[in-house]
Amino acid sequence: MSRIRKAVFPVAGLGTRFLPATKAMPKEMLTVVDRPVIQHVVDEAREAGIEHFIFVTGRNKGVIEDHFDKQVELEATLERRGKDRELAELEGSLPGPGQTSFTRQQAPLGLGHAVWCARELVGNEPFALLLPDMVMQDAPGCLKQMLDTYADLAAPANLLAVEEVAPELAHQYGIVGVGETVGRAFRVEGMIEKPAPGTAPSNLFISGRYILQPEIFALLGAHQTGAGGEIQLTDAMIRLAKTQAFYGYQFRGKSFDCGSKIGFLHANVAFALAHEDLATEFRQVLRDLLAEDLG
Ligand code: UTP
Repeated sequence: MSRIRKAVFPVAGLGTRFLPATKAMPKEMLTVVDRPVIQHVVDEAREAGIEHFIFVTGRNKGVIEDHFDKQVELEATLERRGKDRELAELEGSLPGPGQTSFTRQQAPLGLGHAVWCARELVGNEPFALLLPDMVMQDAPGCLKQMLDTYADLAAPANLLAVEEVAPELAHQYGIVGVGETVGRAFRVEGMIEKPAPGTAPSNLFISGRYILQPEIFALLGAHQTGAGGEIQLTDAMIRLAKTQAFYGYQFRGKSFDCGSKIGFLHANVAFALAHEDLATEFRQVLRDLLAEDLG
């Protein structure tokens, strides 16, 4: 199985659910405790051994490119002031020189279209796709677990991270049908985006991490629109599944949908409670707030 070297991060969405916060600032730069959402997701990819980070950006997203660049003046100032810890933190969070690429999705035509915009940068090799909306909290990270699982599959295969959702909420997600078990994965028997209530083939939803074969690009290039008039990734995957195997992998860990306000707040609380410098004090803050709230 060929190694996965490249990861794609589609960050061109409008983030309308977070307006007005996202009027001038990308939603991917909202912070979960002390780092932007996109940093959490890039860290997950770095931990998995990804070597090239491809961002599909759009208008108002230039700050993401700056975030993953060296800030020479800031670093010099930190050094002068002896702020070694902050300096190490900054240096440690940066992909190396030449390891990032940025391309533009000129109009937000849907996730499938954003992925297609990365085709020249990915080239003819399998790649990882990480939706920055989903922030994972687990060790090892979700993508690392997926790459270990992918290594055992027969080529060419596509692999989707899945997790359980309450059946009454399945209609909000992309759901997979579950076939035979293959090692740590299972064969995906059909996929459906936002099934009508009561018709979902399982309670497992695709949770924002994918390993895809490059043949997906030709299918996305047909620019067929689907739900919401957008070019949908799931539609292209359904077409690809006619010629290539798709597997699902139920990863170990927690995910937070930071594209929604409640998921974003949940992530902040969970990461703060796991933060070595903040946990004790924050736990007391939460206790006091809840005691007040519950009267
Ligand atoms: P979402 O539909 O959750 O993102 O897409 P959105 O459109 O930014 O959010 P809302 O619903 O208006 O609040 C999932 C991911 O796909 C990217 C988004 O940036 C997000 O990371 N995306 C979506 C694109 O890059 N381009 C698109 O045209 C659509």
